[in-house]
Amino acid sequence: KSYRIAILGATGAVGAELLDLLASRNFPVASLKLLASPRSAGKSLPFQGENIVVEAVSDRAFDNVDIVLASAGGSTAKAWAAKAVAAGAVVIDNSSAFRMEPHVPLVVPEVNPQAAARHQGIIANPNCTTILMTVAVWPLHQVKRVQRIVAATYQSASGAGARAMEEVKIQAQAILNGETPVAEILPYPLAFNLFPHNSPLNDLGYCEEEMKMVNETRKIFNDQNIRVTATCVRVPVLRAHSEAINLEFETPMSVQEAKEILQNAPGVQIIEDWQANHFPMPIEATGRDPVLVGRIRQDISHPHGLEIWLCGDQIRKGAALNAVQIAEVLIEKNWLQPATSENQLSATSNRG
Ligand code: A2P
Repeated sequence: KSYRIAILGATGAVGAELLDLLASRNFPVASLKLLASPRSAGKSLPFQGENIVVEAVSDRAFDNVDIVLASAGGSTAKAWAAKAVAAGAVVIDNSSAFRMEPHVPLVVPEVNPQAAARHQGIIANPNCTTILMTVAVWPLHQVKRVQRIVAATYQSASGAGARAMEEVKIQAQAILNGETPVAEILPYPLAFNLFPHNSPLNDLGYCEEEMKMVNETRKIFNDQNIRVTATCVRVPVLRAHSEAINLEFETPMSVQEAKEILQNAPGVQIIEDWQANHFPMPIEATGRDPVLVGRIRQDISHPHGLEIWLCGDQIRKGAALNAVQIAEVLIEKNWLQPATSENQLSATSNRG
């Protein structure tokens, strides 16, 4: 069986990766609609040897579509998701618009695939830094409960979209030419610089990106008591995020035990060469599926503490790949239909 797919935001950075993943993973595509803003209508993008013309999203755009992979920002998602659901599609949305709504599952397939069974038409793809962190922390948390996470992130320009990536390259070129870099998409010049994440700040001084890591981790782990704090920083890397993560367990977790768990964890690859001082780097994570983890070491400041370092492709596992994996779960488990109390029960009992 194959499925009628629409990509909303097909011309963006995540959109391009969605196209690539549908092809490279042999996703069962019966038909593919590419949707974007009216600015892009008429452009065409290649898919499996064909050029597909991009359409401006419209009221009728979701007719005859089974799955919408949306990556066009929060306001576009809010404007169109309900219409897509009314037209009979399931929307897997990459924006933050619906993530914390109680009836919207927030899914990382390596962590909580079963949550997808309960959807009512919309499933949210979590924030990129949160996805990467949860893939690495969940398998450890399953063995020994993590009670506190302290994270510092090193986030690439891709998180701010394709135009931000372009802007960093132009800024770097300007600086090398002895000119003053211009920032239009990003708030400040990022080339040869970094700045704390520029999302809006709350009264406690945390930015939105940091609070996403706090609140989304709790929802994905279904653990309202896990304590999370983060400092998010934008760095002049094009498309992979890095994170330094300190974990405080309820009982001690040895480095050896953590390594064994992570070696067998889905979606994780350990990169550690202590002799060569070689650990995950964003250039190695770029274009790759797994979350790369390394520098697993005892926290010398706490007997139950562990330090880990990770890198993951923000556009891939941090966005497009996670969304495609959610679609694959829906297909494999036969969860495309919105949950009613009846099929929700049978979905839950099939979980095994
Ligand atoms: P467009 O290229 O026509 O502006 P990125 O995050 O890389 O900047 O990509 C954002 C994606 O969301 C692009 O495909 C963009 O299309 C799309 N988009 C932005 N605003 C809208 C809108 N109002 N309606 C539909 N698509 C939109």
